[in-house]
Amino acid sequence: MLFRYNTSITPKPLAIITPLKKSHIQAAISCSKKHGIQIRVRSGGHDYEGLSYVSSIVPYVVIDLVNFRNITVDVPTKTAWVEAGAQLGEVYYRIAEKSRTLAFPAGVCHTVGVGGHFSGGGSGMMMRKHGLSVDHIIDAQLIDVKGRILDRKSMGEDLFWAIRGGGGNTFGVVIAWKLSLVKVPATVSVFNVTRTSLEQNLTKLVHRWQYAVSKFHEDLFSRIFIETVNSTNGEIAIRTTFTSLFLGDVDRLLPIMQETFPELGLMKQDCVEMSWIESVIFFAELPLNTSLDVLLDKTLEITISGKGKSDYVNEPIPGIALEGIWKRLYQVDVQSFQLQFSSYGGRMNEISESSTPFPHRAGTLFQIQYLVFWVEDDIRTFELYVNWIRSLYSYMAPYVSKNPRGAYINYRDLDLGVNNPNGSTSYKQASVWGAKYFGRNFDKLVQVKTAVDPDNFFRNEQSVPPISSWV
Ligand code: FDA
Repeated sequence: MLFRYNTSITPKPLAIITPLKKSHIQAAISCSKKHGIQIRVRSGGHDYEGLSYVSSIVPYVVIDLVNFRNITVDVPTKTAWVEAGAQLGEVYYRIAEKSRTLAFPAGVCHTVGVGGHFSGGGSGMMMRKHGLSVDHIIDAQLIDVKGRILDRKSMGEDLFWAIRGGGGNTFGVVIAWKLSLVKVPATVSVFNVTRTSLEQNLTKLVHRWQYAVSKFHEDLFSRIFIETVNSTNGEIAIRTTFTSLFLGDVDRLLPIMQETFPELGLMKQDCVEMSWIESVIFFAELPLNTSLDVLLDKTLEITISGKGKSDYVNEPIPGIALEGIWKRLYQVDVQSFQLQFSSYGGRMNEISESSTPFPHRAGTLFQIQYLVFWVEDDIRTFELYVNWIRSLYSYMAPYVSKNPRGAYINYRDLDLGVNNPNGSTSYKQASVWGAKYFGRNFDKLVQVKTAVDPDNFFRNEQSVPPISSWV
């Protein structure tokens, strides 16, 4: 739980239900409907705005799927059934337990839950090769507002389309997903290369990276983390970490980097070869000799407060604008924020924007994630950091996607707009954030919602409203 939601004035649920069987979820839905109680479904609890455990709509109960984490991997068919309460780390572990050359393209943080993550898309280190998680979901089990247990066939293709990226807590409770696994080479290569503003012209380097992105081989994923650090001479410096997963060995990676991004100066000694499952440990920033069992750890907790925002970039950001970003980074404490630039392209360019509700496909160069963190939870600190991230976001407007300015629902941001608490949000009102998250897919999501949940029982601050509110 984010600390900013752990206060004496945070609305508390009437009950936290931890179902052991599907019938317990059916009963919770039926009772909640009867008594006019809202439901919040929680899988991994990583929602950026705490929507899986805090509701501004009261009274409410939390259905926590902590006991729904069974995973069955079938190597001959290259598929897996995964219950919604499982964490990504458990999914990766159970696949690797059976095969070191099968994997699943999903997020980096192993404690993220598959219930919320797949409901919003699911992006990770293999997206340039394989796309998003939702591009590899081939069946699901969902309990709908009538308490029916539906699979892909019985729910129909439209609802199956909507639950793969249209946002959680909107169409029902997902119980399990069926995944189509992807093949990975026995050896992959990883690197984290840091450059600071004291030793290198970072503006030039980051500017050049934006042009290299579209030329990268699809086996290569590249992300830049941008932070500030205290240098040894006491100066505050900007530090960029270029982090990559390459689906192949180092001897194949080096010429690709030399051809497409020589300015980074990547050397053989910067790279480490390993299995794909070991790369999950590497990107979790754990020591390389850490036991894979850490991926099964369910006790990790978020003990800070934070706020996130996202953007999509279609044209390289000019150097002068990058300088403007750096200037703003010096305005807040060292290590209280992070920017992430994540390369798109490759397979993402080939999947149509309407194939799932996630629309940010061809034409996107990279995604920006803005994050700010704080520890002391008083209102002054909250305002300081939140105002800072809002001001950076507003500075970025000319340099990112427009009409609509895109955003990623998995990096949920309630600044984009919220539903009316009584569920009566108009289409026009919801399309303000709906178009940012879903582009032209928003209308189809509204139609599906209208067909399956016309009374808007499953809802939260940013869920898609039904057509009855189309005014
Ligand atoms: P949580 O349980 O909080 O659910 C999120 C939303 O989905 C809520 O609205 C909830 O009600 C709903 N929901 C949950 N389970 C449901 C179910 N079974 N049926 C219906 N609705 C359900 N994203 C990404 O794409 N790539 C990444 O690498 C990362 N990395 C990352 C790291 C960290 C530390 C955090 C905090 C977050 C990320 N994310 C991410 C974002 C992440 O994908 C997003 O927050 C997901 O919604 C989290 O899913 P959980 O199940 O953990 O969240």
